[in-house]
Amino acid sequence: MLNFNQQVVWITGASSGIGEALAQAFAQAGASLILSARRIEELERVKNSLPLSPAQVLVLPIDLEKPETFPELVQQVMDAFNRIDILVHNGGISQRGLVKASPLALDQKIMAVNYFGAVALTKAVLPIMLAQKSGRVVVISSLVGKFGTPMRSAYAASKHALHGFFDSLRSEVWRDNIRVTIVCPGYIRTNISINALTEKGDKHNRMDKNQEKGMAPERCATLILKAVAANKEEVVIGGKEILAVYLKRFFPGLLSWALKRFMKPA
Ligand SMILES: NC(=O)c1ccc[n+]([C@@H]2O[C@H](COP(=O)([O-])OP(=O)(O)OC[C@H]3O[C@@H](n4cnc5c(N)ncnc54)[C@H](OP(=O)(O)O)[C@@H]3O)[C@@H](O)[C@H]2O)c1
Repeated sequence: MLNFNQQVVWITGASSGIGEALAQAFAQAGASLILSARRIEELERVKNSLPLSPAQVLVLPIDLEKPETFPELVQQVMDAFNRIDILVHNGGISQRGLVKASPLALDQKIMAVNYFGAVALTKAVLPIMLAQKSGRVVVISSLVGKFGTPMRSAYAASKHALHGFFDSLRSEVWRDNIRVTIVCPGYIRTNISINALTEKGDKHNRMDKNQEKGMAPERCATLILKAVAANKEEVVIGGKEILAVYLKRFFPGLLSWALKRFMKPA
C-alpha cells in the first residue's frame, strides 16, 4: 500500500489523462492536492471525484505559458497548505507536424508549455523546498525525451530539454534533501494525440492507434507513485515500445535505422 499521508502534492495538467489519474492515486495514498491546468470546470470535476474533503484539495488554474503568474499561485498554495512536498510537472502538449511545414512559432509554443513552464514553476517553488529542507520534483517526460521520432521535433526537443535541466537540478539540490524523479511514459491511453498541435497550430483532433491501445492512465499513475516512493531518479513506463529506450542505449544505429524505415510520419 503506497503511503503519501500528510504530503502536499501539486499536479499540473490535472484536468485529464495522466494528471487526473495521478490525482486519484495520490488522493488514495493520503495526500492533499493542488490541481492545476487551464480548464477550471474539468479541475472541479476531478476535485469532486476524489475521496478527499474540500479542505484537502485546492483547484488552482494555471496557464503554463504565463510564468509571470506563478509567484502569486505559489503564494495561494502556501496560504492554503503552508508547504509543498511534491511538485508534479505533468501539464504538456504534443505535436503532429513535419519540421519543413511547421513555423518557428509552433516550436516556441511547445517549448513554452512543456519546458519553460516547468522550469519557471520549479524556480517559483524551489525557495519553499529549500526552506523546508525537503521536497520532490516529478517530471513527466516521454520516450521521445530519449530519442526523436517523425512529426514530433518540437515535442521531442522540449522533453529532451527537461532531462538536461532536471538532471542538473538533481545534482545541485540533493544535499538539501530535494529529490528529482523523471518519468518517461510510452503509449498511455489519454487525449494527448487529440490535443496535439498540427503544423497549422490547431488541434490534431484524432485518437492515435498507439494511444488507443496504450496503457491505462490509472496503471501509469500507480507505477509513477511506486517510482516516487522508491526514490527512483528515472523510470520508463509503458508496453513493448519502451524497448526502444534500450535500443537507443545499446544499439543506437539499429534504432535510427528502424525509425527511418518503419516509423511512418503520422
Ligand atoms: N499519453 C501518452 O501517451 C504520453 C506519453 C508520454 C508522455 N506523456 C506526457 O504526459 C503528460 C500528460 O499528458 P496526457 O497524456 O495526460 O494528455 P492530456 O490528457 O492531453 O493532458 C494534458 C494536460 O496538460 C494540460 N495543459 C496543456 N496545455 C497547458 C497549458 N498551457 N497550461 C496548463 N496546462 C496545460 C491540459 O489541461 P488544460 O487543457 O485544462 O490546460 C491537460 O490536463 C504530458 O506532459 C505528456 O507529454 C503522455
